[in-house]
Amino acid sequence: MIVTTVRVPAKVNLELSVGPVRDDGYHDLVNVFHAVSLFDEVTATPADALSVSVDGPATVPTGLDNLAARAATLLAAHVGIEPRVALHIRKDIPVAGGMAGGSADAAAALVACDLLWDTRLDRETLLELAARLGSDVPFALLGGTAVGLGRGERLTAVEAVGEFHWVFGYADGGLSTPAVYGECDRLRADSPVPWPVVSDDLMASLKTGNPPALGKALRNDLQAAAISLRPSLAEALTAGRKLGALGALVSGSGPTCAFLTSSASHAAELAAGLARTPHFADVRQALGPVPGASPV
Ligand code: C5P
Repeated sequence: MIVTTVRVPAKVNLELSVGPVRDDGYHDLVNVFHAVSLFDEVTATPADALSVSVDGPATVPTGLDNLAARAATLLAAHVGIEPRVALHIRKDIPVAGGMAGGSADAAAALVACDLLWDTRLDRETLLELAARLGSDVPFALLGGTAVGLGRGERLTAVEAVGEFHWVFGYADGGLSTPAVYGECDRLRADSPVPWPVVSDDLMASLKTGNPPALGKALRNDLQAAAISLRPSLAEALTAGRKLGALGALVSGSGPTCAFLTSSASHAAELAAGLARTPHFADVRQALGPVPGASPV
């Protein structure tokens, strides 16, 4: 029996510039995605009917609402077959953590089912299906570092030089992405919202592989909203800066905090220091960029 397993990375946003809200309720973004070495795995096994099982926190939905199940259903419908597959998800990416874990699982399910069913869709079609599943799903297919425009789904790869060493502080409990966008709108209700633009300083830091410059250029327009909903995040970021992080920011809609360091040993030191603070349920080191969803 053919079984396929696909490994897929988490993302951190190096820049998340949130523009005005659109007629469809989404926001136009400049979203600089960066894939890091925290991975989920999705295994696809032939079965009589679609099912999802999860090795991870109990808060992950196991029904057909799971984004990975929706991915299998969408792919099957696109090629005109029944989604006869059992999906098993092994989670390491934090749930509702701002690192696109659910989107990652959907991307991995697309790749796994495409292999299992031998549907051989081209990259463009997979990216199109991915965009229908969620704004962050196409990037989980691509990996690396990329600028996302529109909802974040219109991607252009960025050639970053070298590797960046990160530390991630996982929180206890997640934040709802729509709630954080809603809070962002509420906080900015009285001021005009400029059109989002790519930061030249950020692009230069990536193209020259300069961690201190990248640390200074990190920016997330959702951070104030995430802190407004979870005020303790401000102290958590300050703790990382005091311990010598080159940059500290909330990842996506949070509540995971991302800290940039200068080297593997600096990352190990910072991770040990943060683990001694009361701010995080777990502290993890990771490298970026890494490739997108790939069979193992
Ligand atoms: O696309 P996805 O389903 O992942 O988006 C989750 C939620 O995040 C949306 O329902 C919306 O509230 C918010 N969002 C947004 N603008 C974007 C992307 C997401 O407002 N560009």
